[in-house]
Amino acid sequence: MTLRTTLRQVALLGAASVALLCASATAQAPKLKVGLMLPYTGTFAALGVAIENGFRLYVGEQGGKLAGRELEFVKVDDESDPAKATDNVNKLIKRDNVDVIVGTVHSGVAMAMAKAAKDNGTLLIVPNAGADAVTGPMCANHIFRSSFSNWQPAYAMGEVAAKRGAKKAVTITWKYAAGDESVKGFREAFEKGGGQVVRELNLPFPNVEFQALLTEIASLKPDAVYTFFAGAGAVKFVKDYAAAGLKKTIPLYGAGFLTDGTLEAQGADADGLLTTLHYGDSLNTPRDNAFRLEYAKAYKLQPDVYAVQGYDAAQMLAIGLKAVNGDLGKKAEFAAAVEKAKIDSPRGAFTLGKNHNPVQDIYLRQVVGKENKVIGVASKQLADPGRGCRM
Ligand code: BEZ
Repeated sequence: MTLRTTLRQVALLGAASVALLCASATAQAPKLKVGLMLPYTGTFAALGVAIENGFRLYVGEQGGKLAGRELEFVKVDDESDPAKATDNVNKLIKRDNVDVIVGTVHSGVAMAMAKAAKDNGTLLIVPNAGADAVTGPMCANHIFRSSFSNWQPAYAMGEVAAKRGAKKAVTITWKYAAGDESVKGFREAFEKGGGQVVRELNLPFPNVEFQALLTEIASLKPDAVYTFFAGAGAVKFVKDYAAAGLKKTIPLYGAGFLTDGTLEAQGADADGLLTTLHYGDSLNTPRDNAFRLEYAKAYKLQPDVYAVQGYDAAQMLAIGLKAVNGDLGKKAEFAAAVEKAKIDSPRGAFTLGKNHNPVQDIYLRQVVGKENKVIGVASKQLADPGRGCRM
């Protein structure tokens, strides 16, 4: 054996052991710990389940791994209770040491989560809660939203109501951040369009004793009613509005949560209602059709906006993770990748604004049977103003 042959064999052996070492390092990449903080009980329980379903569907489509890392889920039921939110989120951050938190539905809970995420530098992806502050004064380079801000669908509906000729409107909602901000967004556009909000009616979250307030609406006789309710509360409100005889006389407009994921239970009482949202049931695009088919196959259910937001939260995580090769320590690179991405959502592709909130079309939908049928685009590529966000 010549010296040259021996040297070549040594070099080959070296290369083989490096390859082996790399392979075992990849095999040993620790699982990515995902903290799912969502409501699994209470009025928003179905919303939490749909978000988790959507998230898992995307991960399943990627073979169960994102950027080569398997996922491990730690789940907390936040009960949509802001009083328990700080303890709940700290369990995920400090006890379970999660790498990323995905949550939640309720705006009040989400604000506590955003504070904890900021204090601890934990990556947070919000798959529903619209709290304006999360992408406003609380914005941060490691906080993202895959859903909407409360301002977005409300502002779009304010424009629609004014264009449809309503002059005097009454609003009715739960007294908490999402309800307040939704009404504020509606009022901003409605009054800009020449209308006037003559009364704001409220009840505490998650109460559903609507009767006294419906009687007040009947005596005020506005041209339109604007509302924000969601989940089980939305089911009861739509049924009570019809039972009070108001549906026949005063048009009811809503942020689309009023009729999303709720139509089976609302039945004919929802028929014809107009709402605004960043998703609808009849988009009929190849992307949405494929998503709906896979979702229905996996869960034997039709998807709703919450499922889409969960799916897109997983897509955003995947985009960032891929850019940093699975290393979530590289926060700036993660953020840069998600900021410049076009997210291939079933709702239609969207990008994020500087404040990390989706810039997206807000559809005008009308309930036809069991569908939120898209009948137009109420506001094209609507960006949340991100008031107070300094990044
Ligand atoms: C919220 O609290 O932000 C919210 C809850 C349910 C649906 C939409 C928004």
